[in-house]
Amino acid sequence: MQKQSELYRGKSKTVYHTEKKDYLIIKFRDEISANNGIKVKQLSRKGTLNNKINYFIMTKLQENGIPTHIEELISKNEVLVKNLKMIPVEFVLRNLAEGSLVKRLNIQKGTILNPPIFELFLKNDVQCDPMINESYCETFGWINKNTLIDIHMITLKINKVLSKLFSDIGIILVDFKLEFGMIDNQIVLGDEFSPDTARLWNKENMEKMDKDLFREDSGEIIQAYESVGYRLGIEFN
Ligand code: TMP
Repeated sequence: MQKQSELYRGKSKTVYHTEKKDYLIIKFRDEISANNGIKVKQLSRKGTLNNKINYFIMTKLQENGIPTHIEELISKNEVLVKNLKMIPVEFVLRNLAEGSLVKRLNIQKGTILNPPIFELFLKNDVQCDPMINESYCETFGWINKNTLIDIHMITLKINKVLSKLFSDIGIILVDFKLEFGMIDNQIVLGDEFSPDTARLWNKENMEKMDKDLFREDSGEIIQAYESVGYRLGIEFN
């Protein structure tokens, strides 16, 4: 399938129409951004690393019975996906305290969260993705009650699959963000799962292997992403 007109340009990915309306092509660009797009940098090979890590993870999830939008890896930085009707909400799952949770509650970084915390944020760049809850979703019609219950269950299943996958290669899955969409009343995982959208800590020394290295200017980003990929057994060349 061929790339056609641009549908949407995000902070690090561009989405294109294809000749079939049910399919889109996502291009992972080399930009990295933080702080709602205020801090931006070009990082050579980042698009390839995230495209391949995302494809690997989504394929694993599919093998574990979780429907995803992934169809086919079509180049080093492009993937063919199903066109979903996206839900305008970001779903965050937290196993350990970090990031905005630590800021909001002033709790110790790394505190184990048992059971894991499930949070909702409205996808709205102008408002800086504000935190919302189930009641907002119902009142404003963003998601119905049953779909939200199902997404919570799917997110917990994803957490179980991925926590084990990462644990087996010496990485702690601290937290992550997911986006879902619908096809014919079925909930399907969309967007991406990569070190841009998850926090990953090296079990051995608790060093970060994710976008926090960029947010905090605290280390070699490409080296860390590559190391995540190699541990997963991904070939980058
Ligand atoms: P937070 O601690 O900043 O709320 O982030 C929680 C997780 O969600 C973390 O793994 C990073 C991810 N995330 C995104 O992928 N995109 C976003 O816009 C935000 C705010 C967080």
